[in-house]
Amino acid sequence: MRHLLSTRDLDQESAVRLLDVAEDMADTQQREVKKLPTLRGKTVVNLFFEDSTRTRISFEAASKRLSADVINFSAKGSSVSKGESLKDTAQTLQAMGADAVVIRHPASGAPQTLATSGWIDAGILNAGDGTHEHPTQALLDAFTIRKRVHGIASRGRNLDGLSVTIVGDILHSRVARSNVWLLTTLGATVTLVAPPTLVPVDTRAWPVTISYDLDEALAAGPDVVMMLRIQGERMRDAFFPNSREYSRRWGLDDGRLHRLDPTTIVMHPGPMNRGLEISAAAADSPMSTVREQVTNGVSVRMAALYLLLSGDREN
Ligand code: NCD
Repeated sequence: MRHLLSTRDLDQESAVRLLDVAEDMADTQQREVKKLPTLRGKTVVNLFFEDSTRTRISFEAASKRLSADVINFSAKGSSVSKGESLKDTAQTLQAMGADAVVIRHPASGAPQTLATSGWIDAGILNAGDGTHEHPTQALLDAFTIRKRVHGIASRGRNLDGLSVTIVGDILHSRVARSNVWLLTTLGATVTLVAPPTLVPVDTRAWPVTISYDLDEALAAGPDVVMMLRIQGERMRDAFFPNSREYSRRWGLDDGRLHRLDPTTIVMHPGPMNRGLEISAAAADSPMSTVREQVTNGVSVRMAALYLLLSGDREN
């Protein structure tokens, strides 16, 4: 693998392989000494033009556990805020000898630009670009689902026969987009539930069913319910009357939680607006995988970095 830019272009074989490598990485994280020498001498740059807590520290932990050197570069306080272009930044990273660049950027397509520009030779990992994609989030979600469903017999398996319902602010969600492509590639069926104002127009070409009625969608008994954050920072207009109305119609509140089959998996990529799209009881219930998702994120990112950076060594 040269870059990881989206899940739309991953085939099932490569996706399962990445999840299997992540299983191996997860096994090493059970040991007392978690650090592997695998990427010694490699330099990974975390290039973040947008706020992030979980994703940035997750990539940092993943790089360090593989013994790579990590440089954290956040756009605030750098020359980027003085107007330096992506090209100049990329050339600086090239001159410093970056082997991989993990990039989060508010513009959809920025990681693709970096990967195809010729400005830099490094492997590019998309850590979230605008409303486009967030491939490692979808991979850690798929990993978490596979693990909950198949346990220690997960290796080599896809998500055939599973139904996943993704609920909320689909319009602004790169997590939803990456999951739609990845989960369907892995064999799951995906239903999207949102207010009509938060459904993107391009979904007509997506391999999904769309519903505006959460109770009806939950009554169908999905295996997985994935709640999305209301992304207020990306909203300039009012997309729903008010937050109480949103919770009442599209939130996973306590009533809906108790009507779910107890084997249902409840997911959220974080950060959560507790009381808005998900109740505290739902977020903290044994059905919730919120904390597992964070833990699994490190293993999945270790796998992605390994597959991007270790190839030249093995050869
Ligand atoms: C997501 C993101 O940034 O796209 N969060 C994350 O990576 N943990 C989802 C979100 O911000 O709602």
